[in-house]
Amino acid sequence: MTQLSASSDAPNMGRRQFMNLLTFGTITGTALGALYPVVKYFIPPASGGAGGGVTAKDALGNDVSVQEFVTGRKAGDRALTQGLKGDPTYLIVTEEAAIASYGLNAICTHLGCVVPWNSSANRFICPCHGSQYDNEGKVVRGPAPLSLALAHTEVVDDHVVLTPWTETDFRTGEDPWWA
Ligand code: FES
Repeated sequence: MTQLSASSDAPNMGRRQFMNLLTFGTITGTALGALYPVVKYFIPPASGGAGGGVTAKDALGNDVSVQEFVTGRKAGDRALTQGLKGDPTYLIVTEEAAIASYGLNAICTHLGCVVPWNSSANRFICPCHGSQYDNEGKVVRGPAPLSLALAHTEVVDDHVVLTPWTETDFRTGEDPWWA
């Protein structure tokens, strides 16, 4: 009797475990399927340099809308956003009312002040010790020793994805000092 019970229970246990496995698998599969778009959203596009990327944010921490960013601004305007590592980063409006393919880290390479854009001088001029950078962020007057760091920009669904710039600095022809 005992033997009969044990032998008839064994297949039941196996079936239950199998059903549990099936249910778990289904739930897991469903959960992963639901997570995919969320996960994909946080994975930056592969293009534009190695390493991770971030979506440029405004002062309130909201994603910058390209449409809103270029509206009311003219070609050559530069405005600050939060970029890689939360660093203040200039996005640049192009002649085509788009975002330039590079952004400029606004942290002065002398002692770290945030450098404002001076449109009338067509330069970035640091208020701390007078360093100057041209309109592409190349240092043209010390004491800053280096140009402003670059970041790649890419527009994805009206947002700006910033990725590290690891290639040659197009302003100096040298390896990027910040990489
Ligand atoms: Fe910019 Fe010194 S921190 S010039």
